[in-house]
Amino acid sequence: MAFPQGFLDELVARNDIVDVVSGYVQLTRKGANLFGLCPFHSEKTGSFSVSPDKQIYYCFGCKRGGGVINFIMEEENLPFPDAVRFLAKRAGMEVPEEDGDREAGRRRQRLLDLNRDAARFYYRTLQQPEGRAVQEYLDRRKIRKATAVNFGLGASPDAWDALILAMTKQGYTKAELLEAGLAVQNRNGGLYDKFRNRLMFPVIDVRGDVVAFGGRVLDKSEPKYMNSQETPVYSKRRVLYGLNLAKKSKRPNIILCEGNIDVVTLHQAGFDNAVASMGTALTVEQTRLLSRFTKELVLCYDNDNAGRIATERALEILNNSEFSVKVLQLPRRRTEDGELVKQDADDFIKFQGKDAFEALLTGSENGIEFRMAQIAGKYDLSGDEARVAYCEEVSELLSALANPVEREIYATRAAETAKITPEAMKLEVQRALRRRNSREKRQELRRDLNPAAQLQPKERELRYDNIRSARAEEGVLRLLTQDASLFPDAPPLTEEQFSSPLLGRAFRLLWQAKAAGRVPSLPALGEQFSQEEMNHLTGICQQPESLKNGRQALADYIRIVQAEAAKRSGGAVDPLLAATEKYKDKKGTGGKQHGNE
Ligand code: CTP
Ligand code: MN
Repeated sequence: MAFPQGFLDELVARNDIVDVVSGYVQLTRKGANLFGLCPFHSEKTGSFSVSPDKQIYYCFGCKRGGGVINFIMEEENLPFPDAVRFLAKRAGMEVPEEDGDREAGRRRQRLLDLNRDAARFYYRTLQQPEGRAVQEYLDRRKIRKATAVNFGLGASPDAWDALILAMTKQGYTKAELLEAGLAVQNRNGGLYDKFRNRLMFPVIDVRGDVVAFGGRVLDKSEPKYMNSQETPVYSKRRVLYGLNLAKKSKRPNIILCEGNIDVVTLHQAGFDNAVASMGTALTVEQTRLLSRFTKELVLCYDNDNAGRIATERALEILNNSEFSVKVLQLPRRRTEDGELVKQDADDFIKFQGKDAFEALLTGSENGIEFRMAQIAGKYDLSGDEARVAYCEEVSELLSALANPVEREIYATRAAETAKITPEAMKLEVQRALRRRNSREKRQELRRDLNPAAQLQPKERELRYDNIRSARAEEGVLRLLTQDASLFPDAPPLTEEQFSSPLLGRAFRLLWQAKAAGRVPSLPALGEQFSQEEMNHLTGICQQPESLKNGRQALADYIRIVQAEAAKRSGGAVDPLLAATEKYKDKKGTGGKQHGNE
């Protein structure tokens, strides 16, 4: 474990979850809990709960939860150690860095230094004769000097070891060059530069650190781009190219495009709010990062098939997010020979100019308009059958809109496309809406009638094998985190008796805390569980459990778990069963004695 448990306990104790969450979410008290609008999914009524007693949060809507450290990890998009440092700073505590930790921190810093020095090297090379080919390429692509400087663009020399020589001279080791992904090892163990004769794009994160590189060829050879691999300082899911600059933009939104070159050209044309996800689909981590800087996104992917698929995917991820999303559709371009060809943002700016782009940006469609156009594009609307099919599909789409005004407006638009009366289209949408509602009601009913399914964890790996036992195991954990004084001094169950490995592990860890004289609570155990596991565990703890008959309930739960465990082990008599029977008598669940002893 990276941090001493005592430190984490204190950290959690000094960062009250209500205080911390209140910095992000407006909370109102309802009974023992506080409620607010969930910051992790979009909703109109607050299902996001915070328990001051248990020091956990849990959203009954999206079923995410955890302690204060998890909250900061999710909200600030930080890995565990950084979330701990964030909270330590908040509470004015010093972070005890263990040797291993300090070592890892030192290594990260070395990699960041190496990346920065490599970026300087590529940048210098661009000004020198060795960089002439790249400079000529930049000229051809109309990228001006000031723009290149702004992005720190560079040139990797057309040589096998120019960077390796320069960096080892500055004191970096070959191992460090390999780890940073700047050098590659050949079969004989020799090293050579990974990036050669390429236009170099340093990838800079929002803190201003150079975390990776992309390198583009200067001709038509393949691969067009080479990128740094994932390293201790680079996770491509968490970085967007250009965001280090776009985050300072005065424009109200952020434009997401596909390519590095698009970003550079857009910034040069005055759209300093452009970023790129570097050829990969938009990730949830990237949307969280973006949400720190804007609430409005404009998707501007290439107007080819791949770009449309990327747009659909991004819309799916952004569906139900707090962002308002628009789609900027670049038109195809007619060449001199009259051929229609795809173009990306860079092409568009070059051929049509920045005013035309500004016009597209202002007039860009929202996600619904984009999807309506996609559906219309599937049908030849001159035929009657196709028009009927179009109406069906588009009404299904519109019935998903929560806002009736929006439904009405887009239904009218769809009617124009299908050349039917607006009234007919609205009727069609209403029918689709009724179908959708009854479908949802049926699903709800099915869930209610089948509480076992509701009890099942969302994640496949966490599924319960034995629902009866698992439900009792959940009860044990709920009571243990709510009132540990209900429990005897010796553990009433062993980890192995739990049918769910996750619940068993949680029990062991909570019990260890209790045995060491600490409060057995989830928040300080954040490091031991994945976010999915934490979501499930906090969900269990936020289910209502009356403490009035706590002792009786606990004894019942324990008996069920033991009986089910005994069945599993082939009916063998469980040695612990006897012990619990004794415990039961002593605590007087038979009705003789209650209260503290
Ligand atoms: N990309 C990649 N590897 C490739 C091709 C593309 O990593 N073999 C990534 C790059 O980050 C690139 C982005 O995907 O910027 C978009 O690809 P593309 O549109 O082909 O590149 P552009 O940067 O737009 O380059 P250009 O305009 O010169 O074609
Ligand atoms: Mn492109």
